[in-house]
Amino acid sequence: MEVQTIMVVGAGQMGSGIAQVCAMAGYDVILHDLKEEFIDRGMNIIRKNLQRQIQKGVLTEESIQQILNRIATSTDLQNAQKVDLVIEAAMENMDVKTTLFSQLDKIAPDHTILATNTSSLPITEIAAATNRPEKIIGMHFMNPVPVMKLVEIIRGLATGDEVYAAIHTITEKLNKIPVEVNDFPGFVSNRILMPMINEAVFTLYEGVATKEAIDEVMKLGMNHPMGPLTLADFIGLDTCLYIMETLHEGLGEDKYRPCPLLRKYVKAGWLGRKTGRGFYEYK
Ligand code: CAA
Repeated sequence: MEVQTIMVVGAGQMGSGIAQVCAMAGYDVILHDLKEEFIDRGMNIIRKNLQRQIQKGVLTEESIQQILNRIATSTDLQNAQKVDLVIEAAMENMDVKTTLFSQLDKIAPDHTILATNTSSLPITEIAAATNRPEKIIGMHFMNPVPVMKLVEIIRGLATGDEVYAAIHTITEKLNKIPVEVNDFPGFVSNRILMPMINEAVFTLYEGVATKEAIDEVMKLGMNHPMGPLTLADFIGLDTCLYIMETLHEGLGEDKYRPCPLLRKYVKAGWLGRKTGRGFYEYK
């Protein structure tokens, strides 16, 4: 299964990072989003990340230009006609994803693999919205995409072996490490990470310690690069809540109950870094 052209759907934090690493690995990329302004924002993130590499002496101005030349932009989903692989990194919402996958299924050539960067939604359910369930697969990148080595590769119930093998190879070409997991709520990463973050929020809610103390304990005591509350702000509190709800609903156990304080912050619009305020304030 030869892949040369990749469409990335969604030019947000994750989508732009995925487009960047695909272009850096030599793939032709089409970065797609609904509006030009979203694409511009995504391209600016990519330019800024690449510029940092010049300062560090890793890339030259010329190689950056070559990488950027490999990224075309699109606001017309019909451009999926030209691609061998789609990596969807749109909003984390099942209706949005099933609508998108049903459209992509009609537009993309028969050989095209449709991958989703969902952080917790069932691949099998997304696949059921298409007539090519064997070509649907989860490709879960971690934030920040250019830095983090892991890609969780999630097989849906019907994902074909050749499709899995192709995605495994592509992930390695992206200079990432693929880890195979099965399709259960939260997969492995968020099944373990989010209850830890949720527990940190409960720890704050119950007055066990200050937010700074909770983060310090986990940073200094467990060698985590960020404390769990800082990490929650980094990921987005709305995303954390959504994933906890997916775990709670999908696994049906009280241990996945989202902390009321997390709900309160999300209702207040304190979503973390992206809104300038979460557990901490950001200038
Ligand atoms: N985009 C691109 N590169 C970035 C970046 C960003 N947003 N932030 C930092 N970097 C790069 C820097 O350029 C630097 O690169 P070099 O090593 O080549 O110099 C490197 O990352 C380290 O950056 P800093 O020295 O500035 O900062 P740091 O040492 O504090 O590291 C961090 C920053 C990599 C984000 C680190 O704090 C970290 O690993 N945090 C945890 C991240 C994490 O857990 N991610 C997973 C989130 S969960 C998820 O994504 C899944 C989900 O479904 C919710």
